[in-house]
Amino acid sequence: MDQNVSLKPFNTFGLEAKAQNFLEIKSQEELVEFLKENPLAKGPLLPLGGGSNILLTQDYQGTVLKLSLKGKHILKEQDGFTLVEVAGGENWHDFVNWSIAQGYGGMENLSLIPGSVGASPMQNIGAYGIEIKDVFHSLEAYEINTGKIKSFNHSECKFGYRESVFKRELKDQFIILSVSFKLTKNHQINSSYGAINTELEENGIKNPSIKDISNAVIVIRSSKLPNPKEIGNAGSFFKNPVVDIEVLREIQKNYENAPNYPAGEGKVKLAAGWLIEQAGWKGKTISTYGVHKNQALVLVNYSNSQGNDIFDLSTSIIEDVRTKFGVELEREVNII
Ligand code: EPU
Repeated sequence: MDQNVSLKPFNTFGLEAKAQNFLEIKSQEELVEFLKENPLAKGPLLPLGGGSNILLTQDYQGTVLKLSLKGKHILKEQDGFTLVEVAGGENWHDFVNWSIAQGYGGMENLSLIPGSVGASPMQNIGAYGIEIKDVFHSLEAYEINTGKIKSFNHSECKFGYRESVFKRELKDQFIILSVSFKLTKNHQINSSYGAINTELEENGIKNPSIKDISNAVIVIRSSKLPNPKEIGNAGSFFKNPVVDIEVLREIQKNYENAPNYPAGEGKVKLAAGWLIEQAGWKGKTISTYGVHKNQALVLVNYSNSQGNDIFDLSTSIIEDVRTKFGVELEREVNII
């Protein structure tokens, strides 16, 4: 275990913060051994996957476990499905590419999402009409307090919009070791998201393959979302708020075309990016950080910013959206 380690290479915001202790974990055995020898009572623990959904606002006074468990294998092939088990430390996009190369479908809409496989069920990652819950089968996780390895099936994960049991009731209690996905062999292409269709049409593609969908998603994402290798960011900083339909009606009095999506009886989901743009924040830069110019939902670190400053920026945005629309934005990234 190393001391006083810079976390800059381990968070996609590219923020500087030090971990008091830092250990890279490459196998389940290493993890079990470490946690047996170092009971949690000795200090806080921060399991880290790709670091693509955190904002570091201070040094971490505890132990950062960089989870690098690798490997994938096929558990079962039947009835047009393949069940694949993937270790938590595998890179998400590499896994999506591997699936496509094998001819396994279901993941193509989730191309180019930064982060690791192990972190993906935590917040039920999603994009372009698909969420991980649509391809998820089960997962194995290490219970920190008991040292037991537990399986979770689909319903036990309690997936919701950018939500799971691991962000709520079981927060900080489990480390996800591996995730199993049920992938298709006879593909149902989902191009319901308008921009995908437009992209396919522009390329004259009528019967898209899973590779075509993946390519379209990559083009769309690259045009809207900053590449964390070039500009520090953690994707959507806020969730899209779900509100009572009356709130939308009120907004529509002044903004007839406010984007909104059905979200259950009497509820609608609003586009946080749109709300933030209307509140005047899109593309705003404050010295070395700001709001991205193509997608107002994404906060960015251009160079050497402080996590605290980005946090304060997010507070100002929340306040302005509240004042203008009476809507409460919720942060999606984990604040450390
Ligand atoms: N919009 C604006 N201004 C903006 C951004 C968006 O007016 O600056 C409007 C768009 O014109 C559109 C609507 O808001 O009418 C929705 O925008 P978009 O399709 O870009 O998607 P989003 O709702 O802003 C969500 C996810 C993204 C995901 C996209 C595509 C959340 C919090 N974000 O964004 O996920 O890629 O849909 O499916 O749900 C992430 O989680 O890190 C992420 C990038």
